[in-house]
Amino acid sequence: MAPTATTNSDQSFIYPQINEAPRGGDFYLNNPDPENDVNIPDQLLGTKKKLRVIVLGSGMSGINFFKFAEDKASNLEIQCYEKNEDIGGTWLENRYPGCACDIPSVVYQFPWRPASWSKYYSYSPEIWKYVKMVAEENDFINKYVKLAHEVKSLAWDEATGQWTVEVKDLKSGREFKDHSDFVVNCTGVLNKWKWPDIPGLRDFKGTLLHSAQWNQTTDLKNKRVALLGAGSSAVQILPNIYDQVSQVYTWIRSKIWITAGFAQKFAGKDGANFTYNEEQQGLFNNPDEYKAYCKMIEGELNQRFSFIINGSAPQRDAVDYSVNEMKTKLKEKPELLEKVMPTDFFVGCRRPTPGNGYLEALAGEKVTAYTSQLQTITEKGFIDPNGQEHEVDVIICATGFDTSYKPRLPITVNGTDMRTYWEDPKNNPTGSPAPTYLSLALAGVPNYIIFAGAYCPSAHGSFFPLVQAYSDYTLQILEKMQTENIKSIRPKIRATTQFLKHADTYLKRTAWTGKQFTFHNKKAITNNETGPCSSWFKGGKKDGKPAIWPGSRLHFLRLLEKVRFEDFDIEYEDDENMWSFLGNGFHVCERDGSDITWYLGKPEHPVDEKKILDVMDGLKGKDLELDMP
Ligand SMILES: Cc1cc2nc3c(=O)[nH]c(=O)nc-3n(C[C@H](O)[C@H](O)[C@H](O)COP(=O)(O)OP(=O)(O)OC[C@H]3O[C@@H](n4cnc5c(N)ncnc54)[C@H](O)[C@@H]3O)c2cc1C
Ligand SMILES: NC(=O)c1ccc[n+]([C@@H]2O[C@H](COP(=O)([O-])OP(=O)(O)OC[C@H]3O[C@@H](n4cnc5c(N)ncnc54)[C@H](OP(=O)(O)O)[C@@H]3O)[C@@H](O)[C@H]2O)c1
Repeated sequence: MAPTATTNSDQSFIYPQINEAPRGGDFYLNNPDPENDVNIPDQLLGTKKKLRVIVLGSGMSGINFFKFAEDKASNLEIQCYEKNEDIGGTWLENRYPGCACDIPSVVYQFPWRPASWSKYYSYSPEIWKYVKMVAEENDFINKYVKLAHEVKSLAWDEATGQWTVEVKDLKSGREFKDHSDFVVNCTGVLNKWKWPDIPGLRDFKGTLLHSAQWNQTTDLKNKRVALLGAGSSAVQILPNIYDQVSQVYTWIRSKIWITAGFAQKFAGKDGANFTYNEEQQGLFNNPDEYKAYCKMIEGELNQRFSFIINGSAPQRDAVDYSVNEMKTKLKEKPELLEKVMPTDFFVGCRRPTPGNGYLEALAGEKVTAYTSQLQTITEKGFIDPNGQEHEVDVIICATGFDTSYKPRLPITVNGTDMRTYWEDPKNNPTGSPAPTYLSLALAGVPNYIIFAGAYCPSAHGSFFPLVQAYSDYTLQILEKMQTENIKSIRPKIRATTQFLKHADTYLKRTAWTGKQFTFHNKKAITNNETGPCSSWFKGGKKDGKPAIWPGSRLHFLRLLEKVRFEDFDIEYEDDENMWSFLGNGFHVCERDGSDITWYLGKPEHPVDEKKILDVMDGLKGKDLELDMP
C-alpha cells in the first residue's frame, strides 16, 4: 500500500508533533517587575473556552443554529427554551385553511437538508413535518430543547458577565433561573399574533378564530363567516374556504396590490401551485440536478429587489402586471376594484400578496366585501356600515401580528429595560424607535444576538438563507469570545446610530416608504418619507418607519459574511491585559497533532517518507568542495 502523507496523527517527519506542553512555572522569569508585569495565563493561543449559550425558540432559526453550532463550533454548551409543546414555530402555529409558503418549497428549506417536496408551494403541515424530521434526524430536541418552557425575562449582570434568564415550565408552572454567557434570540418576527381592537369582539357568541391560532376541529361547512383582513393570511384563507361556506363577509380596510407569485416563472399555469409528478419527484433524487433547479429558482428570487426601487423599470412592470390582474379578475365588481386597487403607493410597499384564487373568490357571489373599518361586533354577528346587523357563525381574524420589533420580554441591562427604548426614542442614545444594529443586535446590549430583528430583509425572499447567515455570524462572535478571553461584546452606539440613519435615508428610494405617485401616468408627485400604505414592515402603521434591510438580500448576505468587529465595544476578562489570550506563547496546533508546517502546503500525492529519508540522507551526499566559489 502506498504510504500516505495526509493524516494529522501520523508520527511522521512531515507532520512531527510536539508532545511536551510547558506548564505554568516551567520557566525562569528574568527581571520580574510586579509593578508593570501583567498577568499571563498558562493558556495556548487558540484555546476555546467553554461558553454557555441560551437559545430562545426552536423554529427554523433555532434549528439552523443548532446544526451550524455542531458542525462549525466546539465547547459551546447550548440550552434552548421553547414555549410551545413542539418545535417548528410558524409552521406549528399557523394552520388555517390554505396556509402555505409562498416561496417555492425547494428554496424554502435548509440548503443543507434538501427534501422531496410534494408541491411547488407546500402547505403548513408538510413544512412542519419537514422541520420536525430535521430535528429528529439530528436528535436536536433531546440534546438541546426544553419544550413548553417560556423565557420570561433576561437580565445582564455586568459584574459576572452573565445573563440571568427567567424561565417558566408551562406544564408544572414552576419558575426558575438559568444563567448563560450569551443569549441567541430566535423567537421569530411573526410570533405574537394579536386580536384586532374592535368593540364587541369579546361578546361574540359564535366561533372566534385567529389565523395564527386556528382550531382545526372547526367545521366551516355551510357556515356564515366574517373574514377580517387582506394580508397574506386572508388572501390564502378566502379561496380555501369559499367552496365550503354559505356566505363570507370580508373587510379590506386598506388598498392592496395582488401580485405575481414568487418565482412564478417556474410555477404552474398562470403562476398556480402544482404537485410534482413522478418524473419531477425523481429529479429530487439527483443531488446535482436538484441543486441546479434550486439555484434557478433562487436566482430568480434574488433579482426581485430591483422592483422595490422607485422609478425602476421592474417596478413599472410590477404595477402593470398587478393592474391587469386586478382589472381582469374584478371586472364583475368594478366598484370594488376602485376601492381596493391602490392608486397612491407602489407594489411592494406592503408585503406582496400573491393571491392565487383570491380575486376570483372576492368576485364570487357568496362574498360581500367592505372597504371600511369594521366598527361593531355583536353577540350574533356584526353591524355593517349602514347600521344593519348581520348574523355570522364564525369570525376569522386574519389581522396579523405584533410587528413592532419591541422586545416581547424584559431585557434589562444595567437597570434599564430595553423595551423603554421602543416606547420613546428619546430614551435611547440612537434616537431611533428600533435601535437595532444590522437587524441582529441591540445598541449597547452585550452578548446578545437576535435572528431577524428590526431592519431584517423580511421582504426579500426565502427566510432560510438568512438564518444560515445569522447562525454563521453568531458563531464568529462566539469563537472570538472563546479564543480571545472576551467577557462581553456589544454594538457601539455610534455604529448603530449611523447604520439606522443610513438605512432610513436609503429606504426613501424604495416602495417601502410609500412614495406617492399618480397612478394613471405613474408619475411621482410627492416625495413623502412615509406614504399611505399600511404595512407590517412599518409596525402596521401608515406613518411608521419601515424597519427593513436597506438593500438587496445578496447585499445583506455578503455583508454578514464577516463580522465587522470594529463596530463593537469589546470588554476582556482581564481588563489590564487584553492580550492575555496570547498566553504561554504556544499555539494549540503545537499540542493537538495538527500539521505544524501548514504554511508550506502539502504534497499533492502520497509520498514514501522512508524513501525520501533514505535518498536525502546527508551522509550519502557529496563532500563540499571547499574551493568552490
Ligand atoms: C403564515 C406564514 C407564512 C409564512 N410564509 C413564509 C414564506 O413563504 N417564506 C418565508 O421566507 N417566510 C415565511 N414566513 C415567515 C416565517 O415566520 C419565517 O420564514 C420562519 O418560519 C421564521 O422562523 P423563526 O424560527 O425565526 O421564527 P418562528 O417560526 O416564529 O419560531 C419562533 C419560536 O420561538 C418560540 N418562542 C417565542 N417566544 C418565546 C419565549 N419567550 N420563550 C421560549 N420560546 C419562545 C416560539 O414558540 C416559536 O417556536 C411566514 C410566516 C407566516 C406567519
Ligand atoms: N407565505 C405566505 O403565503 C404567508 C401567508 C401568511 C402570512 N405570511 C407572512 O406573515 C405576514 C403577516 O401576514 P398576515 O396576513 O397574517 O398579517 P398582515 O399582513 O399584517 O395583514 C393583516 C390584515 O388585517 C388587517 N387588519 C388589522 N387589524 C384590523 C382591524 N382591526 N380591522 C380590520 N382589519 C384589520 C390589516 O389591514 P391594514 O393593512 O389596513 O392594517 C391587514 O389587511 C405576511 O406579510 C408574510 O410575511 C406569509
